[in-house]
Amino acid sequence: MSKSVILSCITTRYLLFSFVSLLLAYLYLPDLKSRTGRPNRNQGYEYEELSMTKAATDIVYDSGCCPLPFVPRPSAMPRSIPYIQHKFTFQTEHHGNQMKERKHAVKRAFEHSWNGYKNHAWLWDEVSPISGGHKSTLGGWGATLIDSLDTLLIMGLDQEFEKAIESLSDIDFSSPGALGINVFETNIRYLGGLLSAYDLTDGKHQILLEKARQLGDFLYGAFDTPNGIPQTRWNWSNPSPTHEAPRESIFLAELGSLSLEFTRLSQITGDEKYLDALQKITDLLHNTQNSTKLPGLWPVLFDPQAMQFSSTHFTLGGMADSTYEYLVKEFVLLAGRSDKYRDMYISAVESMKKNLLFHGMNQDGRRTLFAGNIRFVSETGQETFEYQTEHLKCFLGGMVGIGSKVFNRPSDLSIARELVEGCIWAYELMPTGIMPEVLYISGCKNSRCEWDDERWLRGILGRSDEREMPLEVREAAEQIALIHGLRPPILEVADPSYRLRPEAIESIFILYRLTGERSLQDTAWRMFQNIEKYTRAEHGYAALDDTRNTESAKLDVMESFWFSETLKYFYLIFSDLDCLSLDEYVFNTEGHPFKYLNPESNEI
Ligand SMILES: *[C@@H]1O[C@H](CO)[C@@H](O)[C@H](O)[C@H]1NC(C)=O
Ligand SMILES: *[C@@H]1O[C@H](CO)[C@@H](O)[C@H](O)[C@H]1NC(C)=O
Repeated sequence: MSKSVILSCITTRYLLFSFVSLLLAYLYLPDLKSRTGRPNRNQGYEYEELSMTKAATDIVYDSGCCPLPFVPRPSAMPRSIPYIQHKFTFQTEHHGNQMKERKHAVKRAFEHSWNGYKNHAWLWDEVSPISGGHKSTLGGWGATLIDSLDTLLIMGLDQEFEKAIESLSDIDFSSPGALGINVFETNIRYLGGLLSAYDLTDGKHQILLEKARQLGDFLYGAFDTPNGIPQTRWNWSNPSPTHEAPRESIFLAELGSLSLEFTRLSQITGDEKYLDALQKITDLLHNTQNSTKLPGLWPVLFDPQAMQFSSTHFTLGGMADSTYEYLVKEFVLLAGRSDKYRDMYISAVESMKKNLLFHGMNQDGRRTLFAGNIRFVSETGQETFEYQTEHLKCFLGGMVGIGSKVFNRPSDLSIARELVEGCIWAYELMPTGIMPEVLYISGCKNSRCEWDDERWLRGILGRSDEREMPLEVREAAEQIALIHGLRPPILEVADPSYRLRPEAIESIFILYRLTGERSLQDTAWRMFQNIEKYTRAEHGYAALDDTRNTESAKLDVMESFWFSETLKYFYLIFSDLDCLSLDEYVFNTEGHPFKYLNPESNEI
């Protein structure tokens, strides 16, 4: 099965449908569906066959504290998940050829980057795309290599994949090559990368499973704390865990984004201990969600000593993002076995709609949505709203789109589309055609707003009053806009760089797969061409210092997500719909697809 999935990623088919074949396809639709090889309930799963009573016994506490009680895993009955992908798109030969060309352009960009890594940084975490140097930034286990495995497969770079697999035996995940382990990054990039390569090759390479288990066991050690909250920034200078609760506060994203990888590892190995380790976090999130200052959302910092959320800052961006993203995706990966994830997702989205969403104030009346931030002033409890957005937040359109389909919330789909439009708009507004890392914009919280020149200029000066501005004040604001390259309705570009991030193309890809909207492919192509134009470097692609400036300097950085996410999603949006269908794969937050088994769709 995976063979045909991969094949569909490499080839491009032209479907020249006549009316008759259309009719035939329609008439035989049920038949086609049953032949797609989706498992039915009787075929069973690895996961379903696990014993109900097996306890997690591997964590030992020699610090005198009692082991945590075993928490039973989610109820065993799988639930149907609706099919979420748009069904038919008929493509003409012309369109097919065009997509093939675009796909090849993306593949060439990948090969250029891969060659840079191969020739200058093999087995190091990253290559420096300008100088050709190498770095160890993520534990020193060859981050770019592991993060690229599934993309190599999808793009049909089989020889390169085999070469990468051969070097796996040289990587030892039982001890890091660099001290100071970021558990979150290690989990999403390395464990996610190994698991998805295993899934895409149908378990053909045992070494992938061996290494995934070795790394899973290493990360499992981070949970060896009295309260079951994992070390997230793990100082690994001492190989045996401390048995203490982590001392410093933990980012929400680092707490809630272990679930997909640990779950998939349990499903594949049949060993439930990884799933069990997660339960503590799931329960914690579930129990606290409604008692925060913004019920439905969690603040960005958790204090593991006091076992409570400790900050007054609410955002869906960096530090928080993937915890929300994983609620719906974990529900899907578990085939609906736990209501908790569904309930938490719905509470979070409702609260986001009520508290954080705002409309962009656009001169052309374009419909855009963004998710701002809320901060509470500790002493007074007063709340301030920040009309801020950032590239990292662009994942939201995709998340809300998937949630709208999985939980049958049709009105959320237009919210998802407008969130995506906000990111597309932010790309198009910049002279380079690339969205900056962080920006503040004029907008309205509770209803759409008409363009208002005065309001924008007042915003630049940080004035919230409605009084008319004297001419010289107005001119001062215009001057600031000019100097800082603030095109209306931008108020401030707080970080003008572009770090080769994937979130915008990720959500555009997802919305394309959910709706079949062709114009999204053209949008993606324009984005890709600009990124190609402004970031290409000698040994890969380099982060851009200033997206406002077409003569901007480049930074000597190419993170591994460029390989695992950005280029993968660009490639996928030009590929056939059955190349990694969202009805068969759920993508982790590093762009790694995990196979999931939909027991039986309840779609008509
Ligand atoms: C991490 O380990 C090093 C080396 O043992 C030590 O000097 C440092 O204080 C440790 N840091 C923390 C936060 O524990
Ligand atoms: C939290 O509040 C929402 C909305 O009132 C409700 O639907 C949900 O069940 C609550 N969650 C918990 C865990 O009580």
